[in-house]
Amino acid sequence: MIKKIFVGTALSMAAMLASTNAAYANECEVTVESNDAMKFNTSNVVIPATCDDFTVTLKHTGQLPKQAMGHNWVMTTKANGQAVATEGMSAGLDNNYLKPNDARVIGATDVIGGGEETTTTFSVKDLDANEEYMFFCSFPGHIGIMQGTVTVSYTHLRAHETPEH
Ligand code: CO
Repeated sequence: MIKKIFVGTALSMAAMLASTNAAYANECEVTVESNDAMKFNTSNVVIPATCDDFTVTLKHTGQLPKQAMGHNWVMTTKANGQAVATEGMSAGLDNNYLKPNDARVIGATDVIGGGEETTTTFSVKDLDANEEYMFFCSFPGHIGIMQGTVTVSYTHLRAHETPEH
């Protein structure tokens, strides 16, 4: 009896580990490009809810320095985005145009200039399926063009939680 229970648990754990490893293969990270034309190369980033953490790599494919055409990648709820960007302007480049320790910021890279690359990694566990999220660049004046949606995908979780389907 005890032995059967142990075997069942071991199999479940093995399945969970396999699932986690599959997600980590490439679904838990994304590369976003930005340029001298003040644009990101994507308007939507998908974060699988199965990821423990998610990593965004931001590349600046242009040549202009960060003082003139700096870009960062910042994630907040859709509701908080504009206020975070507006308040970030006065924080200055030294603070990556974000108010220090702003709890509304879910993930954020440093501000980079042409030819540079940077990453940010943040936890996925606290994201809410019923919340709307966005990303943007907080360099002064950039959020109007440099923004997009962040979608938290629960597709994998639903498949696991409803085996009858
Ligand atoms: Co920018």
